[in-house]
Amino acid sequence: MNPQETQTLALWRAASPGAVLLDGFHAVKHALRFGAEIELVVTTDRAAVVALADELAADVGDYLEETAHEVSEPFLRDLVPRGSPTGVVALAGRPEPEPGRVRSAPIVLLENPRNLGNVGAVVRLAAGFGVAAVLTTGDLDPWHPNVVRGSAGLHFATTVARVASPHALPAGPVFVLDPEGADLRDIEIPDDAILAFGTERHGVSAALRERADRLVAIPMRPKVSSYNLATSVAMTLFRWSATSANAPT
Ligand SMILES: C[S@@+](CC[C@H](N)C(=O)[O-])C[C@H]1O[C@@H](n2cnc3c(N)ncnc32)[C@H](O)[C@@H]1O
Repeated sequence: MNPQETQTLALWRAASPGAVLLDGFHAVKHALRFGAEIELVVTTDRAAVVALADELAADVGDYLEETAHEVSEPFLRDLVPRGSPTGVVALAGRPEPEPGRVRSAPIVLLENPRNLGNVGAVVRLAAGFGVAAVLTTGDLDPWHPNVVRGSAGLHFATTVARVASPHALPAGPVFVLDPEGADLRDIEIPDDAILAFGTERHGVSAALRERADRLVAIPMRPKVSSYNLATSVAMTLFRWSATSANAPT
């Protein structure tokens, strides 16, 4: 280990507790764009990362050139064993949720999600649609590195947090998505809605059903039992965006 790597290791160790791991160029890029407090950027090839930024995201190139610590590939693999295809990783501070914020777009609630990739995909959708927050119940950490990888670092574009139960939600009408509900195509979703989705294996719990102001179904052919969780969120947000003046254009 050279002296620069020794220094990088000390900085990494100091920043790691409680930090969010961003692995890969797009995660770092999105975190920067949406105001993350980046603690440390590490790369195996600063010139290559800056060239990638010039090609794909010129707005972050200068920052990466000035701040990225260059290290060897084995050193990076020790820091992040699964590695990074783009040779860049970073640590960022985990923002505090802002529950009291005025809402101009729905909240997505995922009940006890199990699949980290699904949650990441939902956060990415939430960022794209300008959703106010993605809330989860259950024991999965919605800031787990694999979830952040799935969202391409877009956690910083919305609020992502865990809530204790479906009874600990912000105010707003609760629309629970369930194949037994009313047809989504006939429903206008208000901007202050909470859009709630059940867990992958068992669907919506009795507790969540009890909280529902409306049960809403996405149309499916007979014999198909359900859609994938993230896909269901996508269709529901698309439906909201079709009628809301606050949806992205
Ligand atoms: C993978 S599905 C759950 C499947 C579960 N085996 C069940 O029987 O409900 C995860 C969640 O996506 C939503 N979902 C999936 N397909 C849906 C549909 N056709 N209509 C409304 N919601 C749906 C629901 O919120 C559901 O709880």
